Amino acid sequence: MEMYKLLTFKDLGDERGKLVVIEGGQSIPFDIARAFYIYGSDSTVVRGQHANRNSEFVLVNVAGTSKVMITDGTRKEVVELNKPMEAVYIPKMIWKEMYDFSPDSVLLVLANTHYDGSEYIRDFDEYIREMKNFNKDE
Ligand code: TYD
Repeated sequence: MEMYKLLTFKDLGDERGKLVVIEGGQSIPFDIARAFYIYGSDSTVVRGQHANRNSEFVLVNVAGTSKVMITDGTRKEVVELNKPMEAVYIPKMIWKEMYDFSPDSVLLVLANTHYDGSEYIRDFDEYIREMKNFNKDE
């Protein structure tokens, strides 16, 4: 299973400024059910620290920068989000942690689901247990 995919959106900017469009099912691999954004987190904060049983996400720093640590319990990678045109797609059942937010960071997150707290796995040991079954079933 792929842990993540880097996405580059088209630049529709001109002399008036930049314009970036994100179309559900076209520039990202799912239809968008939810958007939220995270800002005002400083460089000492770690957010996320969860995996989702059903949700897929696209993360893009529309301003500022942050980092995302992505792991499936075996592999571990860090993606730096530092361009409004570049995003990372994270499939379901991938553990993620967002950190190292710049003071001006605005991290936009798009999801394929409406919020349901019960599909979040917030305990890493539990995640590892569920991953064993998930990998068996895939
Ligand atoms: P949380 O999942 O801890 O945020 P992060 O993943 O960025 O660390 O969410 C913080 C609070 O907001 C928590 O009480 C759940 C709530 N929440 C919603 O109600 N809807 C949402 O779509 C999200 C992402 C969070």
